[in-house]
Amino acid sequence: MTEELKTKLEKLDTEYSQKIAACADSAALQDLQVAVLGRKGALTELLKNLKDMPLEDKKIFGPLSNDLKNKLTAAFEARQSALETAQINAELSKTDMDLTLPARTFDKGRRHPLSVAQKRMTDILARMGFVWADGPFIEDEEHNFDLLNIPKNHPARDVQDTFFIKNTQKQDFVLRTHTSGVQVRTMKKQNPPIRIIAPGRVYRSDSIDATHSPVFHQIEGLYVDKNISLADLKRDLTVFMQGLFGKGAQVRFRPSFFPFTEPSVEVDVSCVFCAGQNAACGVCKGTGWKEMLGAGIVHPNVLRNCGIDPEEYSGYAFGMGMERLAMFSLNIKDIRAFYENDARVLEQF
Ligand code: PHE
Repeated sequence: MTEELKTKLEKLDTEYSQKIAACADSAALQDLQVAVLGRKGALTELLKNLKDMPLEDKKIFGPLSNDLKNKLTAAFEARQSALETAQINAELSKTDMDLTLPARTFDKGRRHPLSVAQKRMTDILARMGFVWADGPFIEDEEHNFDLLNIPKNHPARDVQDTFFIKNTQKQDFVLRTHTSGVQVRTMKKQNPPIRIIAPGRVYRSDSIDATHSPVFHQIEGLYVDKNISLADLKRDLTVFMQGLFGKGAQVRFRPSFFPFTEPSVEVDVSCVFCAGQNAACGVCKGTGWKEMLGAGIVHPNVLRNCGIDPEEYSGYAFGMGMERLAMFSLNIKDIRAFYENDARVLEQF
Protein backbone atom coordinates (compact mmCIF):
# COMPACT_ATOMS: atom_id res chain seq x y z
CA MET A 1 0.00 0.00 0.00
CA THR A 2 2.63 2.47 1.11
CA GLU A 3 4.99 1.49 -1.68
CA GLU A 4 2.20 1.63 -4.19
CA LEU A 5 1.26 5.24 -3.26
CA LYS A 6 4.86 6.27 -3.30
CA THR A 7 5.26 4.96 -6.85
CA LYS A 8 2.12 6.75 -7.92
CA LEU A 9 3.45 10.05 -6.56
CA GLU A 10 6.74 9.51 -8.33
CA LYS A 11 4.94 8.70 -11.58
CA LEU A 12 2.85 11.88 -11.29
CA ASP A 13 6.00 13.82 -10.68
CA THR A 14 7.81 12.60 -13.80
CA GLU A 15 4.73 12.67 -15.99
CA TYR A 16 3.75 16.27 -15.20
CA SER A 17 7.27 17.65 -15.02
CA GLN A 18 7.76 16.42 -18.57
CA LYS A 19 4.38 17.69 -19.77
CA ILE A 20 4.97 21.14 -18.27
CA ALA A 21 8.37 21.39 -19.90
CA ALA A 22 6.89 20.38 -23.24
CA CYS A 23 3.85 22.66 -23.08
CA ALA A 24 4.12 25.56 -25.57
CA ASP A 25 0.88 27.43 -25.02
CA SER A 26 -0.53 29.06 -21.92
CA ALA A 27 -4.13 27.89 -22.35
CA ALA A 28 -2.92 24.30 -22.57
CA LEU A 29 -0.70 24.94 -19.55
CA GLN A 30 -3.72 26.01 -17.53
CA ASP A 31 -5.65 22.88 -18.52
CA LEU A 32 -2.67 20.87 -17.44
CA GLN A 33 -2.62 22.58 -14.07
CA VAL A 34 -6.30 21.83 -13.52
CA ALA A 35 -5.72 18.24 -14.56
CA VAL A 36 -3.20 17.64 -11.80
CA LEU A 37 -3.79 20.21 -9.06
CA GLY A 38 -7.46 21.11 -9.62
CA ARG A 39 -10.31 20.02 -7.33
CA LYS A 40 -10.67 16.81 -9.32
CA GLY A 41 -7.06 16.67 -10.44
CA ALA A 42 -4.87 13.58 -10.39
CA LEU A 43 -2.91 14.56 -7.30
CA THR A 44 -6.02 15.69 -5.42
CA GLU A 45 -7.75 12.39 -6.19
CA LEU A 46 -4.73 10.45 -5.05
CA LEU A 47 -4.68 12.23 -1.73
CA LYS A 48 -8.37 11.82 -1.01
CA ASN A 49 -7.71 8.62 0.91
CA LEU A 50 -4.95 10.19 2.99
CA LYS A 51 -7.37 10.89 5.81
CA ASP A 52 -8.22 7.17 6.17
CA MET A 53 -4.59 6.09 6.44
CA PRO A 54 -2.89 5.03 9.61
CA LEU A 55 -1.00 7.77 11.42
CA GLU A 56 2.40 6.36 10.43
CA ASP A 57 1.53 6.58 6.72
CA LYS A 58 0.06 10.05 7.07
CA LYS A 59 3.35 11.21 8.52
CA ILE A 60 5.16 10.07 5.41
CA PHE A 61 2.68 10.95 2.68
CA GLY A 62 1.51 14.25 4.04
CA PRO A 63 4.89 15.98 3.56
CA LEU A 64 5.67 14.04 0.38
CA SER A 65 2.50 15.09 -1.36
CA ASN A 66 2.84 18.67 -0.16
CA ASP A 67 6.34 18.81 -1.59
CA LEU A 68 5.10 17.54 -4.90
CA LYS A 69 2.27 20.05 -4.95
CA ASN A 70 4.69 22.92 -4.28
CA LYS A 71 7.14 21.65 -6.84
CA LEU A 72 4.49 21.39 -9.57
CA THR A 73 2.98 24.80 -8.70
CA ALA A 74 6.39 26.42 -9.01
CA ALA A 75 7.00 24.62 -12.31
CA PHE A 76 3.68 25.87 -13.70
CA GLU A 77 4.51 29.46 -12.72
CA ALA A 78 7.99 29.35 -14.19
CA ARG A 79 6.67 27.88 -17.43
CA GLN A 80 3.88 30.47 -17.62
CA SER A 81 6.27 33.39 -17.30
CA ALA A 82 8.68 31.85 -19.80
CA LEU A 83 5.81 31.54 -22.29
CA GLU A 84 4.80 35.20 -21.72
CA THR A 85 8.33 36.47 -22.25
CA ALA A 86 8.63 34.41 -25.40
CA GLN A 87 5.36 35.84 -26.69
CA ILE A 88 6.40 39.48 -26.04
CA ASN A 89 9.74 38.87 -27.75
CA ALA A 90 7.98 37.35 -30.73
CA GLU A 91 5.66 40.42 -31.02
CA LEU A 92 8.58 42.81 -30.74
CA SER A 93 10.63 41.07 -33.37
CA LYS A 94 7.74 41.59 -35.82
CA THR A 95 8.06 45.42 -35.69
CA ASP A 96 10.83 47.78 -36.76
CA MET A 97 10.29 50.01 -33.75
CA ASP A 98 13.31 50.88 -31.69
CA LEU A 99 11.90 50.95 -28.20
CA THR A 100 15.14 52.22 -26.76
CA LEU A 101 14.80 55.55 -28.64
CA PRO A 102 13.97 58.43 -26.24
CA ALA A 103 10.47 59.88 -26.72
CA ARG A 104 10.07 63.04 -28.80
CA THR A 105 9.70 66.14 -26.67
CA PHE A 106 6.80 68.52 -27.32
CA ASP A 107 6.29 72.18 -26.47
CA LYS A 108 3.87 73.08 -23.74
CA GLY A 109 1.56 75.98 -24.52
CA ARG A 110 1.56 79.00 -22.28
CA ARG A 111 -0.58 82.04 -21.61
CA HIS A 112 -0.37 84.89 -24.10
CA PRO A 113 1.54 87.88 -22.64
CA LEU A 114 -1.60 90.02 -22.93
CA SER A 115 -3.58 87.48 -20.92
CA VAL A 116 -0.80 87.44 -18.33
CA ALA A 117 -0.89 91.23 -18.17
CA GLN A 118 -4.69 91.36 -18.03
CA LYS A 119 -4.78 88.87 -15.20
CA ARG A 120 -2.22 90.81 -13.20
CA MET A 121 -4.22 94.02 -13.62
CA THR A 122 -7.65 92.56 -12.89
CA ASP A 123 -6.30 90.61 -9.89
CA ILE A 124 -5.08 93.86 -8.33
CA LEU A 125 -8.35 95.67 -9.08
CA ALA A 126 -10.38 92.73 -7.75
CA ARG A 127 -8.47 92.92 -4.47
CA MET A 128 -9.36 96.62 -4.37
CA GLY A 129 -13.06 95.71 -4.49
CA PHE A 130 -13.83 96.14 -8.21
CA VAL A 131 -16.29 93.67 -9.70
CA TRP A 132 -15.97 92.42 -13.28
CA ALA A 133 -18.67 93.77 -15.68
CA ASP A 134 -19.25 92.93 -19.35
CA GLY A 135 -20.81 94.62 -22.36
CA PRO A 136 -21.30 93.76 -26.03
CA PHE A 137 -18.50 94.22 -28.59
CA ILE A 138 -21.10 95.25 -31.15
CA GLU A 139 -22.53 98.24 -29.32
CA ASP A 140 -25.33 100.58 -30.28
CA GLU A 141 -24.65 104.27 -30.88
CA GLU A 142 -26.64 105.18 -27.80
CA HIS A 143 -24.34 103.33 -25.38
CA ASN A 144 -21.10 103.96 -27.22
CA PHE A 145 -21.79 107.70 -27.75
CA ASP A 146 -25.11 109.41 -26.93
CA LEU A 147 -25.54 108.45 -23.29
CA LEU A 148 -21.87 109.25 -22.72
CA ASN A 149 -22.60 112.88 -23.59
CA ILE A 150 -21.24 112.53 -27.14
CA PRO A 151 -24.18 113.64 -29.32
CA LYS A 152 -24.36 113.12 -33.07
CA ASN A 153 -22.04 115.51 -34.94
CA HIS A 154 -19.91 116.03 -31.84
CA PRO A 155 -16.27 116.26 -32.97
CA ALA A 156 -15.29 113.66 -30.37
CA ARG A 157 -16.92 111.08 -32.62
CA ASP A 158 -14.31 111.77 -35.29
CA VAL A 159 -11.37 110.57 -33.21
CA GLN A 160 -13.28 107.41 -32.56
CA ASP A 161 -14.56 107.00 -36.11
CA THR A 162 -15.04 103.32 -36.55
CA PHE A 163 -16.85 100.43 -38.21
CA PHE A 164 -20.57 101.22 -38.35
CA ILE A 165 -23.15 98.60 -39.08
CA LYS A 166 -26.36 99.89 -40.69
CA ASN A 167 -29.42 98.81 -38.83
CA THR A 168 -32.97 98.92 -40.12
CA GLN A 169 -34.17 99.88 -36.68
CA LYS A 170 -33.75 103.38 -35.35
CA GLN A 171 -30.02 103.38 -34.60
CA ASP A 172 -26.83 102.02 -36.08
CA PHE A 173 -24.51 99.59 -34.41
CA VAL A 174 -20.84 100.15 -34.01
CA LEU A 175 -17.85 98.03 -33.06
CA ARG A 176 -17.30 99.60 -29.68
CA THR A 177 -14.56 102.21 -29.72
CA HIS A 178 -14.00 102.07 -25.97
CA THR A 179 -15.20 100.16 -22.93
CA SER A 180 -16.98 103.23 -21.54
CA GLY A 181 -20.33 101.92 -22.79
CA VAL A 182 -20.17 99.36 -20.00
CA GLN A 183 -20.25 102.26 -17.50
CA VAL A 184 -23.62 103.31 -18.89
CA ARG A 185 -24.98 99.79 -19.06
CA THR A 186 -24.03 99.16 -15.44
CA MET A 187 -25.35 102.46 -14.06
CA LYS A 188 -28.67 101.97 -15.85
CA LYS A 189 -29.35 98.73 -14.06
CA GLN A 190 -27.61 99.16 -10.72
CA ASN A 191 -27.89 101.70 -7.91
CA PRO A 192 -24.81 103.20 -6.22
CA PRO A 193 -22.50 102.27 -4.65
CA ILE A 194 -21.07 100.88 -7.90
CA ARG A 195 -17.49 99.71 -8.28
CA ILE A 196 -16.79 97.85 -11.52
CA ILE A 197 -14.08 97.10 -14.03
CA ALA A 198 -14.82 96.23 -17.64
CA PRO A 199 -11.86 94.65 -19.43
CA GLY A 200 -12.16 93.80 -23.10
CA ARG A 201 -11.51 94.32 -26.77
CA VAL A 202 -12.20 97.62 -28.54
CA TYR A 203 -12.00 98.74 -32.18
CA ARG A 204 -10.84 101.91 -33.96
CA SER A 205 -10.09 102.84 -37.54
CA ASP A 206 -6.37 103.17 -36.88
CA SER A 207 -3.60 102.01 -39.18
CA ILE A 208 -1.29 99.55 -37.56
CA ASP A 209 2.13 100.79 -36.46
CA ALA A 210 4.43 100.31 -33.47
CA THR A 211 1.96 101.90 -31.04
CA HIS A 212 -1.44 101.62 -32.78
CA SER A 213 -3.68 98.75 -33.70
CA PRO A 214 -7.27 98.79 -35.03
CA VAL A 215 -8.11 96.19 -32.40
CA PHE A 216 -6.80 96.55 -28.88
CA HIS A 217 -7.88 96.12 -25.27
CA GLN A 218 -8.96 98.44 -22.51
CA ILE A 219 -9.88 98.17 -18.87
CA GLU A 220 -12.62 100.53 -17.82
CA GLY A 221 -13.04 101.40 -14.17
CA LEU A 222 -16.04 103.07 -12.54
CA TYR A 223 -16.69 104.00 -8.92
CA VAL A 224 -19.92 105.80 -8.03
CA ASP A 225 -20.88 106.63 -4.45
CA LYS A 226 -21.47 109.66 -2.25
CA ASN A 227 -18.69 112.31 -2.31
CA ILE A 228 -16.34 110.64 -4.78
CA SER A 229 -13.65 113.07 -5.94
CA LEU A 230 -10.40 113.27 -7.87
CA ALA A 231 -8.65 112.49 -4.58
CA ASP A 232 -10.26 109.03 -4.52
CA LEU A 233 -9.24 108.54 -8.14
CA LYS A 234 -5.64 109.48 -7.43
CA ARG A 235 -5.46 107.27 -4.34
CA ASP A 236 -6.89 104.24 -6.14
CA LEU A 237 -4.78 104.66 -9.28
CA THR A 238 -1.68 105.02 -7.13
CA VAL A 239 -2.50 101.80 -5.28
CA PHE A 240 -3.12 100.09 -8.60
CA MET A 241 0.09 101.31 -10.27
CA GLN A 242 2.15 100.41 -7.20
CA GLY A 243 0.62 96.93 -7.28
CA LEU A 244 1.63 96.65 -10.92
CA PHE A 245 5.02 98.38 -10.97
CA GLY A 246 6.20 98.28 -7.37
CA LYS A 247 6.07 100.53 -4.33
CA GLY A 248 8.10 103.30 -5.97
CA ALA A 249 5.52 103.98 -8.71
CA GLN A 250 4.00 107.46 -8.71
CA VAL A 251 0.99 108.91 -10.47
CA ARG A 252 0.62 112.37 -11.98
CA PHE A 253 -2.53 114.08 -13.35
CA ARG A 254 -2.61 116.49 -16.29
CA PRO A 255 -5.77 118.32 -17.39
CA SER A 256 -7.51 116.84 -20.39
CA PHE A 257 -10.91 116.56 -22.04
CA PHE A 258 -13.44 113.77 -22.43
CA PRO A 259 -17.13 114.55 -23.06
CA PHE A 260 -18.22 112.06 -20.38
CA THR A 261 -16.00 113.29 -17.53
CA GLU A 262 -15.64 116.72 -15.95
CA PRO A 263 -12.97 117.49 -14.93
CA SER A 264 -10.95 115.12 -17.11
CA VAL A 265 -7.35 114.10 -16.64
CA GLU A 266 -4.56 112.36 -18.48
CA VAL A 267 -2.70 110.07 -16.07
CA ASP A 268 1.07 109.57 -16.20
CA VAL A 269 3.09 106.98 -14.30
CA SER A 270 6.67 107.48 -13.19
CA CYS A 271 9.14 105.61 -15.40
CA VAL A 272 9.92 102.23 -13.84
CA PHE A 273 13.04 101.88 -15.94
CA CYS A 274 14.98 105.04 -15.08
CA ALA A 275 12.87 106.82 -12.40
CA GLY A 276 13.68 110.04 -14.23
CA GLN A 277 17.41 109.53 -13.67
CA ASN A 278 18.41 108.80 -17.25
CA ALA A 279 18.09 111.60 -19.80
CA ALA A 280 18.62 109.05 -22.57
CA CYS A 281 15.99 106.56 -21.32
CA GLY A 282 14.37 104.95 -24.36
CA VAL A 283 11.09 104.33 -22.56
CA CYS A 284 10.23 107.77 -21.11
CA LYS A 285 12.57 109.79 -23.39
CA GLY A 286 14.19 111.21 -20.29
CA THR A 287 11.02 112.86 -18.97
CA GLY A 288 10.62 110.37 -16.11
CA TRP A 289 6.91 109.96 -16.94
CA LYS A 290 4.84 107.80 -19.26
CA GLU A 291 1.27 108.61 -20.28
CA MET A 292 -0.92 105.67 -19.34
CA LEU A 293 -4.64 106.40 -19.29
CA GLY A 294 -7.55 108.80 -19.37
CA ALA A 295 -9.84 109.42 -16.43
CA GLY A 296 -12.06 111.93 -14.70
CA ILE A 297 -15.14 112.64 -12.63
CA VAL A 298 -18.24 111.25 -14.31
CA HIS A 299 -20.12 114.08 -16.03
CA PRO A 300 -23.44 114.98 -14.34
CA ASN A 301 -25.20 114.52 -17.70
CA VAL A 302 -23.99 110.93 -17.86
CA LEU A 303 -25.23 110.19 -14.35
CA ARG A 304 -28.58 111.79 -15.23
CA ASN A 305 -28.78 109.79 -18.48
CA CYS A 306 -28.53 106.64 -16.38
CA GLY A 307 -31.09 107.66 -13.78
CA ILE A 308 -28.60 108.60 -11.05
CA ASP A 309 -29.04 111.94 -9.25
CA PRO A 310 -25.81 113.99 -9.60
CA GLU A 311 -26.83 116.05 -6.56
CA GLU A 312 -26.66 112.93 -4.41
CA TYR A 313 -23.92 110.89 -6.04
CA SER A 314 -20.66 111.43 -7.83
CA GLY A 315 -18.16 109.04 -9.34
CA TYR A 316 -14.86 108.65 -11.07
CA ALA A 317 -14.11 106.67 -14.23
CA PHE A 318 -10.92 105.63 -15.93
CA GLY A 319 -10.09 103.83 -19.15
CA MET A 320 -6.67 102.36 -19.75
CA GLY A 321 -5.10 100.64 -22.71
CA MET A 322 -4.08 97.15 -21.72
CA GLU A 323 -1.39 96.90 -24.42
CA ARG A 324 0.15 100.19 -23.36
CA LEU A 325 0.42 99.06 -19.73
CA ALA A 326 1.66 95.63 -20.75
CA MET A 327 4.28 97.10 -23.10
CA PHE A 328 5.47 99.36 -20.28
CA SER A 329 5.68 96.62 -17.68
CA LEU A 330 7.17 93.96 -19.99
CA ASN A 331 9.33 96.50 -21.87
CA ILE A 332 7.90 95.55 -25.26
CA LYS A 333 8.65 98.20 -27.88
CA ASP A 334 6.19 97.26 -30.62
CA ILE A 335 2.46 96.58 -30.14
CA ARG A 336 2.53 94.19 -33.12
CA ALA A 337 4.45 91.71 -30.95
CA PHE A 338 1.11 90.89 -29.29
CA TYR A 339 -0.74 90.02 -32.48
CA GLU A 340 1.80 88.44 -34.80
CA ASN A 341 1.97 85.33 -32.65
CA ASP A 342 5.59 84.64 -33.35
CA ALA A 343 6.37 81.81 -30.96
CA ARG A 344 9.95 83.03 -30.54
CA VAL A 345 8.57 86.27 -29.10
CA LEU A 346 5.68 84.80 -27.13
CA GLU A 347 7.74 82.15 -25.38
CA GLN A 348 9.83 84.84 -23.68
CA PHE A 349 6.99 85.70 -21.32
N1 PHE B 1 -12.99 106.05 -23.03
C1 PHE B 1 -11.81 106.86 -23.06
C2 PHE B 1 -10.95 106.46 -24.26
O1 PHE B 1 -11.15 105.40 -24.81
C3 PHE B 1 -10.98 106.69 -21.80
C4 PHE B 1 -11.69 107.17 -20.59
C5 PHE B 1 -12.47 106.32 -19.85
C6 PHE B 1 -11.55 108.50 -20.18
C7 PHE B 1 -13.11 106.76 -18.71
C8 PHE B 1 -12.20 108.96 -19.08
C9 PHE B 1 -12.95 108.10 -18.32
O2 PHE B 1 -10.08 107.18 -24.70
